Amino acid sequence: MTLMIAGLKAVEVLDSRGRPTLAVSLRLRDGRTVRAGVPSGASTGSREAVELRDGDPQRYGGKGVLTAAAHVNGEIAELLVGRQLADLTAVDLAMIKADGTATKARLGANAIVGVSMAAARAFALLADVPLWRFLSPAGTTPRLPAPHFNVVNGGVHAPNRLDFQEFMIAPLGAPTLAEAVRAGAEVYAALRRRLADKGFATGLGDEGGFAPEIEAPEDVLLTLVDAITDAGYSPGRDGIAIALDPAASEFYHDGRYHVAGESLSSDDMIARYEAMVDRFPVWSIEDGLAEDDWDGWIRLTERLGPRTQLVGDDLLVTNPAIVAEGIARRAANAALIKLNQVGTVTETLETMRLCRDTGWAQMVSHRSGETEDTFIADLATGTGCGQLKTGAPARGERVAKYNRLIEIEAAKHLPYGVL
Ligand code: PGA
Ligand code: ZN
Repeated sequence: MTLMIAGLKAVEVLDSRGRPTLAVSLRLRDGRTVRAGVPSGASTGSREAVELRDGDPQRYGGKGVLTAAAHVNGEIAELLVGRQLADLTAVDLAMIKADGTATKARLGANAIVGVSMAAARAFALLADVPLWRFLSPAGTTPRLPAPHFNVVNGGVHAPNRLDFQEFMIAPLGAPTLAEAVRAGAEVYAALRRRLADKGFATGLGDEGGFAPEIEAPEDVLLTLVDAITDAGYSPGRDGIAIALDPAASEFYHDGRYHVAGESLSSDDMIARYEAMVDRFPVWSIEDGLAEDDWDGWIRLTERLGPRTQLVGDDLLVTNPAIVAEGIARRAANAALIKLNQVGTVTETLETMRLCRDTGWAQMVSHRSGETEDTFIADLATGTGCGQLKTGAPARGERVAKYNRLIEIEAAKHLPYGVL
């Protein structure tokens, strides 16, 4: 069914960190309106599509998005409003062509992705199907993803001394999505008690995880295993497994990894991960090495790939060409999927198809700066990719996504869990 857009409008609003982002609303000819909220990262990969910021130091420290909003309300609206749009690809390709840069730097990836997400919702509405079904490619089985709850925050997401950015718990063994969410919330509560008992502050980082003043990642892992056990679950792939996102690009300087006061080579770092995988139920490591340490990534994948999921985030930036390079060079064995890293829903689905076709695992992801938009819950479900990370089971913008999954499951029984 073709789409005719009657109106398109972007407004500068706030994200979950209190920084400006875009809310895009799209009006159909029959008067119905759909919206999209644009996410924003803090530990971004250098090859991500470019988020357009005003750079005016008088407003929001230069982070305003009035220029990007003006691009939606001006050039993009002129391009799309009143035209017969055959499908989502037509919408996205028109914007990519009009932008004319390889990185969406002129119109802004934040402007383009907001319109792309709203357009996907408009097509779903026209087809009278839920968004997850619209996003489900032909031949794939929709599936509720195993949630990866980020319960301890460090790195650039928290003001503590912890170098690793994310410690996630993943109820891989849960029978249903609702039970997985319950497990995540119960372990989160048990973790709060453990931390408080040990005298740590239980304030939260950007993604809703606790941000204790613990320095060594192994000490966090010990506490996590205790919290899983306290809550009555078994640590491991049959129960609750652990996933890490060290976001190593952030602590890689001058060819060395700086972790808990130590300066480590790539091989030292790989050995450290190997010891963690031996000792703790760590099933997945994202950005274990830096985005410009491809040789290290290849050695990491050789060493740990057979038994550990190794997810490229900064390394691969959801870009089909870069993911293809990762596949060819055997650097990583899974891709993190973030809509705004590549800038359109169409390209995101293309990257996901590439992973599916080559047997790579994939995990859909929020950004550290989020809105109440729940698009990624539908994306992870419709594509059947099996994994979603969207922060702690706390903070409204994170919980909104988990709640959306619960609602999808309540409306339609779908298989649950990692593939
Ligand atoms: P970001 O972090 O959204 O701040 O980039 C998330 C991640 O590294 O996965
Ligand atoms: Zn990451």
